[in-house]
Amino acid sequence: MQEPTVIDEGDDDIEALAASGALAGTAAQFAQPRGADLVRRAEALEAWCATRAAHGVWQYARVLDGAPEPVASVREEGLPAARGINFASQDYLSLASHPAVVDAAARALHDAGPHSAGSAVLLGNSRLSLALEQVLGAMLQAPHVTLFPTGWGAAFGAVTALVHARDHVVIDQLAHASLRQGAAAATRNVAPHRHLDCGHVRELLAQIRARDADNGILVVTEGLFSMDSDSPDLPLLQHLCRDYGATLLVDVAHDLGALGPNGLGVLGLQNMVGKVDIVLGAFSKSFASNGGFIASGSRALKRQLQLFAGPHLFSNALSPVQVAVVLESLRIAASDEGDALRADVMRNACALRAHLAEAGIKCGGTPSPIVPVVVGSEQVARLSGKLLARQGVFVNPVEYPGVPLGAARLRLQLMANHNLQQVRRAAQQIESALHRAGAVVEGVRRHQVAEVRRA
Ligand SMILES: Cc1ncc(COP(=O)(O)O)c(C=O)c1O
Repeated sequence: MQEPTVIDEGDDDIEALAASGALAGTAAQFAQPRGADLVRRAEALEAWCATRAAHGVWQYARVLDGAPEPVASVREEGLPAARGINFASQDYLSLASHPAVVDAAARALHDAGPHSAGSAVLLGNSRLSLALEQVLGAMLQAPHVTLFPTGWGAAFGAVTALVHARDHVVIDQLAHASLRQGAAAATRNVAPHRHLDCGHVRELLAQIRARDADNGILVVTEGLFSMDSDSPDLPLLQHLCRDYGATLLVDVAHDLGALGPNGLGVLGLQNMVGKVDIVLGAFSKSFASNGGFIASGSRALKRQLQLFAGPHLFSNALSPVQVAVVLESLRIAASDEGDALRADVMRNACALRAHLAEAGIKCGGTPSPIVPVVVGSEQVARLSGKLLARQGVFVNPVEYPGVPLGAARLRLQLMANHNLQQVRRAAQQIESALHRAGAVVEGVRRHQVAEVRRA
């Protein structure tokens, strides 16, 4: 593997940065622009993004040259490609570059071509997609599986197909946007509950049931929260759902394959395989492909999704290549090799957390392939992300709308194929980037206060 390229452009010019506005503001200001011209009213957002890009603090839509491997070439808007250690791709078990997975993709391409050429309710299914449904159903002890072209579609499609205007959704306030947007599209009766707080769920369920015994309640949570690396008490949530006549949906996008015995994720860790009403998954984190699914013990629920979940019914099915990749990835994830890959990614995650802790940097949640370094300030997150990229360490700085305002963070996603040297280097660079970014942001703040006083 080639060594990372280190680009150091010297100290940031605090005055220029302060004057530019590149660190100021958040996307929330631009979420609902006013004006009759839907296209022109996006121009203020464009100006803000362009300023950020010009100062290297626009962290979105970077371009990966080649496969999502631990060392990768990344191009940022307006900059040449740089090589560095990649903690910004999602491929927890490193299966996207596994020879058996690549072979499976090549075989499917040769045998069935690149395209499903139809929605799953028309002629988009194949021998491989039926096999995938069966494998997932057996693994999760939830035999009725519906596939979707993306995890996002599975989440949005399931919530909108199952919940109607008179029904209710009780949802963790930090649930993924696909779930929150699905809930908002389905009903106005959406009650967000405090993150992981089952007491709050119980309170909300009791309140809803006290006034409405006739309509459905969907309780929505995640197995492993994608920005926080923490998990709810699933046995308790399922128990509460039974008590109040509600239905539990658990999104296992980030933990299935990556955690737990035989890769069964948080369901496996909490002895809940086959015991949760509805399981939702995405293949894109551990199974090397786009795609998602809903699994349950109910054939009737599968029918409801088949005819009413828009992204299943009105979108072309997963391609044969995608399905073959997921099947092969599932086979590896459930094997001894899968255990070894999970041990590797966990070793990397624990080592990273330990190095950061030694440097006095606290990570959110519990050990998993997701390591969130919560910094709060959007400005510090933006700037430290830039400084890290300049030192050949790619992470995702996440701010609103990915997380709530004031809860910005650096999110690192570990892969089995990272090594301990790369992890140590990342921790060292994070420490110095946070230190320097904090000082620069403080400098910008003082400069702005002085300007206001002078004015
Ligand atoms: C919890 C969760 N659910 C669903 C999705 C959507 O999955 P995909 O990106 O595979 O469409 C994501 C992806 O980021 C996620 O984090």
